[in-house]
Amino acid sequence: MEMPAILRAMREPVEAALREVLDQSGAPPDLREAMAWSLLDGGKRLRPLLVLATRRLFPDGLDPMPAACALEMIHTYSLIHDDLPAMDDDDLRRGRPTCHRRFGEAMAILAGDALLTEAFAVLARAYGGTDDATGIAVVREIAEAAGPAGMVGGQVLDLLATGRAISRADLETLHRCKTGALIRAAVRCGALLGRADPRDLAILTRCADRLGLAFQVVDDLLDVTSTAEILGKTPGKDQAQGKTTMVTLLGIEGARHLGEALVRDALADLQPFGPQAESLRAIAALFVERTA
Ligand code: IPE
Ligand code: IPE
Ligand code: MG
Ligand code: MG
Ligand code: MG
Repeated sequence: MEMPAILRAMREPVEAALREVLDQSGAPPDLREAMAWSLLDGGKRLRPLLVLATRRLFPDGLDPMPAACALEMIHTYSLIHDDLPAMDDDDLRRGRPTCHRRFGEAMAILAGDALLTEAFAVLARAYGGTDDATGIAVVREIAEAAGPAGMVGGQVLDLLATGRAISRADLETLHRCKTGALIRAAVRCGALLGRADPRDLAILTRCADRLGLAFQVVDDLLDVTSTAEILGKTPGKDQAQGKTTMVTLLGIEGARHLGEALVRDALADLQPFGPQAESLRAIAALFVERTA
């Protein structure tokens, strides 16, 4: 997917940092290969970019790259497990065979487990030595977003809703958990690492909540409107698996309008941050303009 130059430049150090994380993980070669297959190359890196771009709003604080890597590792683990036969049973991810298709189910489960646990090792190594509360606040933020009240809880709601009609309100809750939680954590970690004051943190949290919902609305839309070649994953899965999505509830145009309205409001939230928010605005715009 084409990204503006400002974001392409920000993405390069993320790729390098993720490679380095894998090199230092101590994984046996077969496990490292499976982790690298899913983690390296092909992802849009929107969550790490959100961490870095939000951190840029503030003049000083801590290095955002470890938090950016940890979130991408957790996101990648969630995709590996989401694709397993017991869940969405997908063959294609990030333009290549899914981890379990390439390495078998047992190795894919373990590669996901390894990415999740190593993400917290990365955080502990980077922020464990800091003598203020920021490091532990970031670890807590990410753990809560990934866990039972966040992404994993959302995946359970998704599982329970499969093959059943659900209300708009329940679908929003599901979206906010399974997808919104990690996006919200990305923005909040950038703000926490920049030592944002409570007022700025609240504004950015509201902005991130809008973006998180918009992101899954557009994911549901692309599942209906796009192709495997552009998406890098198999389209048409939601309908085939009997999932209620924003497209089932609102139609293609309705879902598109909802995504656009959410991103418009998210951009308005960023108004007070002025020119420093240029890269964050570019990412927010991508949330609805993206094609993959
Ligand atoms: C896909 O996320 C899964 C959802 C949470 C909807 P992305 O669209 O960010 O996937 P990658 O990381 O770019 O592959
Ligand atoms: C998955 O949502 C969100 C995760 C927590 C992984 P989907 O199941 O819609 O994501 P895709 O379409 O497979 O990427
Ligand atoms: Mg799923
Ligand atoms: Mg899926
Ligand atoms: Mg989807």
